[in-house]
Amino acid sequence: MNITQRRTIRKYTQQPVDDELLNRLIEEASRTQTMGNLQLYSVVVTRSAAMKELLAPAHFFQPMVTQAPVVLTICADFRRTTDWCMQRQASPGYENALSFMNAATDALLFTQTFCCLAEEEGLGVCFLGTTIYQPQTIIAVLELPELVFPVATLTVGWPAEKPKQTDRLPLEAILHQETYGAFTPERIDACYAERESLSENKHFVEINEKETLAQVFTDIRYTRKDNEAMSEGLLTTLVRQKFLRADSLSDLIPTVVERRPDILECDVVRFQNKKEKWVAFVGLLDGSPYEIFTGLQDDEEGIAIPKSVIKGYIIKHYDRDGQKRYDFQFVNKRGYKTTIEGLSDRFNPEYWNYAKLISGVLRYRMPIDHVIRLITSLQLENDTINSWTTGVARVLKKYLPDSSPMLEEEEAE
Ligand SMILES: Cc1cc2nc3c(=O)[nH]c(=O)nc-3n(C[C@H](O)[C@H](O)[C@H](O)COP(=O)(O)O)c2cc1C
Repeated sequence: MNITQRRTIRKYTQQPVDDELLNRLIEEASRTQTMGNLQLYSVVVTRSAAMKELLAPAHFFQPMVTQAPVVLTICADFRRTTDWCMQRQASPGYENALSFMNAATDALLFTQTFCCLAEEEGLGVCFLGTTIYQPQTIIAVLELPELVFPVATLTVGWPAEKPKQTDRLPLEAILHQETYGAFTPERIDACYAERESLSENKHFVEINEKETLAQVFTDIRYTRKDNEAMSEGLLTTLVRQKFLRADSLSDLIPTVVERRPDILECDVVRFQNKKEKWVAFVGLLDGSPYEIFTGLQDDEEGIAIPKSVIKGYIIKHYDRDGQKRYDFQFVNKRGYKTTIEGLSDRFNPEYWNYAKLISGVLRYRMPIDHVIRLITSLQLENDTINSWTTGVARVLKKYLPDSSPMLEEEEAE
């Protein structure tokens, strides 16, 4: 079939799709390109009515699932490759997001190649994007092991309908030459004018009591609320299937805690500023820097704490007239608590202000390498403050993740 004539088919005749034809199409589709020729996908064929009934809820009971003679679930699959590696004294490292993307790419390329071949043969297919909406159900029904994840479903059969072809956006909506050309309001109008003028779309807007076609998508078909809820399910399932580590999510999306807890654990880090000895108190939330206080180590004007103290707490304290201050508390060698009151008052106000700015950035979880770059790029008038920023940047390097390229850069220096 000519590609310009294709359309999705959602109604099928009772004529069976025999195994020989199906296997041939699957085999031919496996000529599709894949990463490292690893063929990181697998296909589960569902023919039995009972199994289709079990799959139907995951696809929101779209009728094609139970009506089509064949349902194919195409999975991103690193299981087989991982098992092969382990059986051949090779150490696989595919339990990560990148490997999921690679396997999903392979699976989708296979899916599309199969669609073209099946349509060429006269079969009708419908792609079901619902596969990734509630993947947990599909995983349970099809007994998918770890490192196997359903990414596409096709319902396949001989067409019992010839629906009107859907429209397409004009070429200028999808094509950019050399660099990405911005979509001015005029260009958006031109791209969507025809689609918005179609009577079926106007009808769609009307029956849904919306003002624009775009609102039908945002408010009814694909809403933020649904997308966010299903994204959560998707990510959790990726963790269950071992493509993502549970803690990788909190690394990727650190939670912002705007209200500073009353007590924060803290690291005490000494550093050199010009010829002076300085100390930084790095307040930690869930092990990540949340705020930083710095000052001169000095008995008279600054702060003096025993050398052995490298950890403690920064405690927010309100005095009787509601004035806020921060105290540092540590446990000395003999196990007694010692509190140094009013960290803020002991330090030079100018440095204090810079530290406040840096703490603001830390509190909102800017990645540490960005914070370090920001601090080291500051060009300040005062030489001592410039040297202070270098010291603070060095203190923060302690909190870079092990995989940070910034650590490698430092080693290379
Ligand atoms: C990622 C993706 C998800 C889709 N999900 C569904 C679906 O859940 N149900 C459905 O009936 N069609 C689904 N479709 C088919 C599209 O609705 C269809 O391709 C589109 O409206 C264009 O129509 P055409 O294929 O007839 O040209 C999906 C297609 C894709 C590529």
